[in-house]
Amino acid sequence: MASKFAPRAFRSSTRALRSSTRQPRQSFHLSAVQKSSSLNVHRDTPENNLSIPFKFSQQNEKLIQEVLSRYPSQYKKAAVMPLLDLGQRQHGFTSISVMNEVARLLEMPPMRVYEVATFYTMYNRNPVGRFHVQCCTTTPCQLKGSDGIMKAIEEQLGIHHGETTPDKMFTFTEVECLGACANAPMVQINDDFYEDLTPETTKSLLKSLAEAAEKTGASGMAPGLSGDYGKDQVSGQSSGRQEKAGGPGYAAQGTSLPAPGPLSKRISCEPAHKLTSLTSEPPTGEQIMRKDGAF
Ligand code: FES
Repeated sequence: MASKFAPRAFRSSTRALRSSTRQPRQSFHLSAVQKSSSLNVHRDTPENNLSIPFKFSQQNEKLIQEVLSRYPSQYKKAAVMPLLDLGQRQHGFTSISVMNEVARLLEMPPMRVYEVATFYTMYNRNPVGRFHVQCCTTTPCQLKGSDGIMKAIEEQLGIHHGETTPDKMFTFTEVECLGACANAPMVQINDDFYEDLTPETTKSLLKSLAEAAEKTGASGMAPGLSGDYGKDQVSGQSSGRQEKAGGPGYAAQGTSLPAPGPLSKRISCEPAHKLTSLTSEPPTGEQIMRKDGAF
């Protein structure tokens, strides 16, 4: 009898031992899904699908020949990034047809081109507004107040990051460091950097852009989509530059815009107040040699 029950007793004691040594069950929490500013998976949309053909313009074809001439013919796929950039500038965004055309020209598997275009955030995989406002929120910008800049943009445009205004004039994107940390906080709007921002200067900049677009009748879509890239990006007409303190600004049809760069008194990335390093003449000649002769 005892031998009949022994295996069961053994099993239940090992089970008890196992459960006593088992880690307490951990609970986990689900946080809200953070939508990335650009989806890295292609989904057909009316403006981005394979039935929309794309061919480079004659002008861009010449540029492509110039770019390709820099590489040995067997390495022409090295030109994938400048060609994607040209495609985006012509078409307004890096559509599936742009990527396929680049793959065809460079004789690359399309997947290799998709990998590049989805890795680098400067390739817009979806249409963007005429003004693509990219606000940096990486640590140096965050320490200098990028939270306030993000809020100011949201208040001025009435959209959150990752969204485009209903008139397709502004797209707002949150980005990582754009390399202008010494002039933080900053935003990139199309190809221009605006730096040393405050919430007030940010709002006024966006207001000026909207006013300029309205006065000049600029359409609410990226320059490539409206077919007028290469002309003045606000007015579609050639613009006159005007000088102002801190650098040249732009004037178009009675509207003036601040020049890209620091929107403070700084001209570049010189100290904002006074020198904090290199405050005296650097030592020269014998002064930099150690007296004991050691290096
Ligand atoms: S952290 Fe914003 S530009 Fe570098």
